[in-house]
Amino acid sequence: MRASQMRWVVGNWKMNLGPQRSISLAKEIAALKIPDGVQAWIAPSTESLMSVAAICKGTKILVGSQNACGEKPGAFTGELSVPALKEIGCGFAIIGHSERRHVFGESVELCAKRAIGILSQDFKVIFCVGETLEERRSGRTEDVLREQLRPLRDAVPPEQRENLIIAYEPVWAIGTGIVAKEEEYTAAHNIIADRLANININLPILYGGSVAPNNFDSILRAHNVSGGLVGGASLDVEKFETLIKLAGALAN
Ligand code: PGA
Repeated sequence: MRASQMRWVVGNWKMNLGPQRSISLAKEIAALKIPDGVQAWIAPSTESLMSVAAICKGTKILVGSQNACGEKPGAFTGELSVPALKEIGCGFAIIGHSERRHVFGESVELCAKRAIGILSQDFKVIFCVGETLEERRSGRTEDVLREQLRPLRDAVPPEQRENLIIAYEPVWAIGTGIVAKEEEYTAAHNIIADRLANININLPILYGGSVAPNNFDSILRAHNVSGGLVGGASLDVEKFETLIKLAGALAN
């Protein structure tokens, strides 16, 4: 288990829910008991952020966005600024999710630029990395992870380190029901920890990819996993609550 025993359960709702369903799910989640040592975070889609942040205000649930811009407010059509996110009560942004990288073509450089700019505005970032199946099969997993992290390594100053969290999400495990094997994600987490050791030796590294109530306990028990970035299972309040309880049992 990690030296730091804090545990994260982060729900990524993706583009699944409109405002009405987001509001009702947020109300249910806001009523959950969050054990000490558990960071329970949710990332609704942009159009629901303001309402969900208002519902979660004053609770232990932190609300964040699924992407954001690293630039200061200005002429950036279609983007989401950190000051605006702070103003509506959000506390983090997910950057470089595999769907941003692989479906919408966000490059290694763009994802890193977003993360670096957001961190410099004193805001939390969950920076996602992960290899495709083809990259894994051709033995390139380590190179891909190192490449995705390279720009951060030299650009994040130590005073911003508390705001950086990494999520390792093998692309082939996202939404497929296939969970990476323990030796696969612990090896990947070791590469990540080693790569960013200059920034933070206690860097929280989350696993993402088909996390569910029936597999989360063993994932959390792996020695270098600090929690989960959860897609599908975060849309069901009972499953999300179970994940939080499992995290709570191992947090302190
Ligand atoms: P999943 O998604 O839990 O549905 O596999 C994870 C993610 O994309 O963050």
